[in-house]
Amino acid sequence: MDTLLHDMESVAILDFGSQYSQLIARRLREAKVYCELFPFDARPEEVLRLKPKALILSGGPSSTYGVDAPELPEYILKAGIPILGICYGMQVLAQSLGGKVTPARVHEYGRSQLHCHPGSLLIPEELAGTNFHAWMSHGDIVTAVPVNFSITASNNSCPIAAMENQDRNIFGLQFHPEVHHTEQGSQILERFLSHTGIRREWTPGFMVADSIERIRAQVGQSKVISAISGGVDSAVATALVHRAIGDRLTCFYVDTGLMRSGETEQVIGTFREQLQVRLVAINATEEFLNILSKITDPESKRKAIGEKFIQIFDREARRLGNAAEFLVQGTIYPDVVESSGKGREQAEKIKTHHNVGGLPNELPFTLIEPLRFMFKDEVRSVGEQLGLPQDLVWRHPFPGPGLAIRCLGEVTRERLDRLRLSDKIVQSELESADMLRGDTAQAFAVLLPVKSVGVMGDSRTYEQVVAIRAVTTDDFMTADWARLPHEILARISNRIINEVRGVNRVVYDISSKPPSTIEWE
Ligand code: XMP
Repeated sequence: MDTLLHDMESVAILDFGSQYSQLIARRLREAKVYCELFPFDARPEEVLRLKPKALILSGGPSSTYGVDAPELPEYILKAGIPILGICYGMQVLAQSLGGKVTPARVHEYGRSQLHCHPGSLLIPEELAGTNFHAWMSHGDIVTAVPVNFSITASNNSCPIAAMENQDRNIFGLQFHPEVHHTEQGSQILERFLSHTGIRREWTPGFMVADSIERIRAQVGQSKVISAISGGVDSAVATALVHRAIGDRLTCFYVDTGLMRSGETEQVIGTFREQLQVRLVAINATEEFLNILSKITDPESKRKAIGEKFIQIFDREARRLGNAAEFLVQGTIYPDVVESSGKGREQAEKIKTHHNVGGLPNELPFTLIEPLRFMFKDEVRSVGEQLGLPQDLVWRHPFPGPGLAIRCLGEVTRERLDRLRLSDKIVQSELESADMLRGDTAQAFAVLLPVKSVGVMGDSRTYEQVVAIRAVTTDDFMTADWARLPHEILARISNRIINEVRGVNRVVYDISSKPPSTIEWE
C-alpha cells in the first residue's frame, strides 16, 4: 500500500484476528493518531516502513500454546518502542518474554469486574484500589508474568488481567479497552498514547490537505472521471478530487430510477450547482426498468444492474471522448485492510457484495482512491470539511443495486414508487425524532412480494405489506435491530398505510444479524 506524503507520527497495529482490531484503529484515529493495521505475519519491513512510534498487538481467536498459533514476530521486541498487547496480544507477549499462558478455569465473555492495583501507568490512578467494568473475551489466561513485570489489574477468574513493565515500555491488557463497555477504556488507550509522546496530527483538515497533495502528485496534468452514486464515499472522493484538480474532473451520475426519494435532485444540485463540478447526469430509468422486468431473484437483479451500469458508464465515457486516464473510486480503509483469520473470510464476502453494481477493474483507467486511508467516520468528517451538505454526509449506506433489492419480487415503476414513498416516510419520521444518527446505522422500508387482507372504511382490501428495517451496528458485519420507540413505529405505520396507496399492512423486523442480514433482498 502506498504511504501518506508526509512523515506522520504513527502507530502500527498487528492484527491477530480479533473482531475488534479495526475498532482499536478507530479509537486511535479518534484520538487524532494516525495508525495502520497489518496482518500479524506482515513482512517486518512493511510494518517498519511506517516508522511507528508504538506497536499494538490485537486480540485473536488462537491459544498461544496451540498448534500453528501465531507467534510474536522477532522484530517486535527489537523495535525498542512502546508495545501494548491486548487479549491474545498480551498472552503472546507474556509467553515470548518467559511468562506462562494456560486455559482459564472460567471463560469470561462480556462485562467483567476487575480490581485495579496501585502504580499502573495505563490505568488511571484514581481507580487504584477500586473496581471497574471491563469487556473480556477469552478462554486462556496469563498465569505467570515475565520477570520484572507487575500485575496491575485482576479478578478471581483472571488473576493477571493487566501487566506492565514501565522500564521496557511493555504493557498488556487481558480486557478490551477499545470496546465501549470497558469503563475508562478510552482513557487507558489515551494514557498509552500520551506515554509514547506521539504527535496528534490526524485531523480532518490534515486529511483534506494530504489527500489533495497526493491526488495532484498522482494525476499530474491528466484528466479524471468519476461516477457518483449518491452514497457518501463516492461523493466525498469526488469532492476531494475536484478540490485538487478542478475542471479536469468530469463526473457521471447515472439515475437508475432505483434511488431514494430526492436523491437525484440532491446529487445534481450539490455537485453541479454548489460545488461547480462538471457533471453529466444520465436518466437511465427506462433502461433499468426494462432489464429488470420479470427478474425476481436477488442475485440476478444485482447482476443485471451491474452489467447495465457498466454498459452505460462505458458508453457515456466514450461519448465524452476526453481521454481520461484516471477513474475515482470511493474505496475506504476497511475495504483495504487485510484482516487475519476468521475475519478475512467474512471481510472477503462483504467485499464481493459491495463490488456488485460498482465498476469492474478491467476498465482502461488507473484508479484514484483518495479514501484508502480513512474509516467511514473519517470520510464523513472530511465531507463536512469540504462543505458537503449534512444530510448527504450523514446519509445511511445504500446498496449499489438500490431499491431493486428492497423491492422484493417484481420491480416495476409502480412498486418502486410505493417503496420510495414508504421509505421517505421512514426517513422523515426518524429525522424528526433525531434518530438517524447514532440510534440507527441503517433504516429503511422494504416492499414485500405478498398481499394480505385488510379493511378500510367498510370495504375489505387485499394489498401489499411494507416491512420496516432499522438496525444499530458498528461495522455492518453484525447488527442488532433498533429498539425504536413504539410511538415512532406507530406514526410510521399510520402514515404509510394512509399515504401510500396499495399498502394495507406494516410490520417491523426484529431480527439481528446474524442469523438474518440487514437487507431483505
Ligand atoms: P447485508 O444485507 O449483507 O448488508 O447484511 C450489509 C451491508 O451491505 C449493504 N449491501 C450492499 N451494498 N451492494 C452494495 O453496495 C449490494 O449488493 C449490497 N447488499 C447489501 C447493506 O445495505 C448493508 O449496509
